[in-house]
Amino acid sequence: MSLEPMALDALHRKRNAKWSTFAPDVLGMGIAEMDYHLAPPIRARLASLLADERTGYPMRGPVGLMADVSDSFTRRMARVFGWRADPAGNVLCVDLLQAISACLAAFSDPGDGVLIQTPCYPAFLIALDQGRRVLHDVPLLDTPTGFRADPDPGASLARRGLSPRILLLCQPHNPTGRVFSRDELAPYMRLAEARDMVIVSDEIHADLVFAPARHQPLAQMFPEAAERIVTLYSATKSFNTPGLRCGMIHFGAPALLERFRARVPECLLGLPSTGAMEATLAAWEECDDWLAALMHRLDTQRHRLTDTLRAADPRLRCHLPESTYFLWLDARDAGLPGGPARFLLERAKLGVNDGAAFGPGWDGFVRFNFATTPALFDDLCARLTRALTESS
Ligand SMILES: Cc1ncc(COP(=O)(O)O)c(C=O)c1O
Repeated sequence: MSLEPMALDALHRKRNAKWSTFAPDVLGMGIAEMDYHLAPPIRARLASLLADERTGYPMRGPVGLMADVSDSFTRRMARVFGWRADPAGNVLCVDLLQAISACLAAFSDPGDGVLIQTPCYPAFLIALDQGRRVLHDVPLLDTPTGFRADPDPGASLARRGLSPRILLLCQPHNPTGRVFSRDELAPYMRLAEARDMVIVSDEIHADLVFAPARHQPLAQMFPEAAERIVTLYSATKSFNTPGLRCGMIHFGAPALLERFRARVPECLLGLPSTGAMEATLAAWEECDDWLAALMHRLDTQRHRLTDTLRAADPRLRCHLPESTYFLWLDARDAGLPGGPARFLLERAKLGVNDGAAFGPGWDGFVRFNFATTPALFDDLCARLTRALTESS
């Protein structure tokens, strides 16, 4: 199954945030979605849904569409990652940001701290802010071979007198593209146990991992801690359906789900639409070939973007991402006028994410989304090279 690029005028007609945030002459290379046509099985499902006018309420209960998605999640975790996720722990939601906010409400109180490795997905900080929770950040460490988890998060927190109630992990990691090893995460798991913290593991990028790196769900990596782990996953990132809205929350033990239910009414999670659930089923059951083609394209582009940036200005620093379609660039030494995000917007007509949104102390960095078509990717590299070589 091949990956079909979308033409630029079709992208502009999508009326999505990625292609509507900036002026038409700007390439939107920030917001996390991709510039390819949907996988044919997803398109076919959505077309047949419309043909049959299936716009009624989906069935709830053990024989309905929601149960199908739940079963499909459990099957996929076993088939792809070798993890046995008990279906009794599965709860559908509309999106993962909702799931994160719900977990904050369920497992902490206003004013409580949440441990997050920074830089982090900016919406984590929005969820904290809206929920009146406090960021207890433990920054990743930049090493010659890539970003690494701080090996002693307890000391980092103790120096500041911080005692978080929740650990919110992102694995694989947005924005650095790291896939953390078991050894790196072990100190965080020990800390969570010592302080009786709930761990929310956002694994939305689990399908987007480049070999030889390999994703292992946290609850599988640390089965002894499963009773405190909430795993979040969805098809929306890997299969480019983020506007449809469907996500999965998996609770590692009945008691954890019980605590969640006691604080979060079921109605607050809403109900994913029929289309979102059908698209999720098609993605998880019928799109392996499409995903392989996607990873092949992203692999080529992660190498080329890294090489292009390094060649354009040796003061720019970046690591080859092990996962995701993001590249995290350290431009602090390049002295780009106005900061890198503004410089790239004004001089290269490229819309990227400003590092300042990814946590305190990350200004001077930017995040690129390189999941675009071959033609637009060539254009991205040409614009970068032109603007950066002119300024260096
Ligand atoms: C780590 C992470 N979590 C969650 C989301 C958003 O998921 P949703 O659209 O289901 O809220 C994103 C989107 O980029 C993400 O990168």
